[in-house]
Amino acid sequence: MRKQIAAANWKMNLTLSQGEQLLKDIQSKPHTLGANQLAIFAVPFPYLPMAQQQLAGKQNVFIAAQNCYSKKSGAYTGEVSVEMLQSLGISYVVLGHSERREYFQESNQFLAEKINICLEYNIHPIFCCGEPLSIREANTQNAFVAKQLEESLYHLSAEQLKQVVIAYEPIWAIGTGKTATSAQAQEMHAFIREQLTAKYGAATANEITILYGGSVKAANAGEIFGQPDVDGGLVGGASLIADEFVAIINALK
Ligand code: G3H
Repeated sequence: MRKQIAAANWKMNLTLSQGEQLLKDIQSKPHTLGANQLAIFAVPFPYLPMAQQQLAGKQNVFIAAQNCYSKKSGAYTGEVSVEMLQSLGISYVVLGHSERREYFQESNQFLAEKINICLEYNIHPIFCCGEPLSIREANTQNAFVAKQLEESLYHLSAEQLKQVVIAYEPIWAIGTGKTATSAQAQEMHAFIREQLTAKYGAATANEITILYGGSVKAANAGEIFGQPDVDGGLVGGASLIADEFVAIINALK
């Protein structure tokens, strides 16, 4: 069975002590993670060691970075390498979030380079894709997402692809309170899986975890995660509230 994942993306929020308190609050509230269920916390770079310390020894809980650079090392002031992340014991990295694509001009090709280096260091990319509102309104979202997948992922072997988690995040639903309906989410997730099937075959495609992101909260997580091709969520705003995120973890199937 595919891994089901509740991934928190804190983005550029919280102070160190607020982040520490949030992790304590989450742990103090009843939640269970089954054998195929993971909770992942994508925290700001400076909080990675704190988060690891807070969550040390927790079964099926992982810490993620929110970005990394595409080069191994060198004169790239301000950047963070996967080797640095690996040396901290980090095993997941969010890549290609729409905010990185929009504000930092990250292209599909650049993301392919980042994916390659993550895989070289045995770090799982959480690869984000998804269309802006104009594309959704023109009803060309399938072609848009297919291109993102093709240009960033299709150079990978099937074994490499299995190390990747895909997160579909319609940009018009991020931080807007406007969630895609569960039917819209299912439709795109099924389309993504069809694309992966065409390229890699059904056995591989059925192993890939595809998360939905965009205004997921306690109140809608159950319905969204209940869709057959939705394997959990990448959660922004609601991941900053302990009760909300715990309920989202508990909504995993
Ligand atoms: O990475 C998370 C997504 O951008 C969703 O953010 O849950 O605040 O809409 P949101």
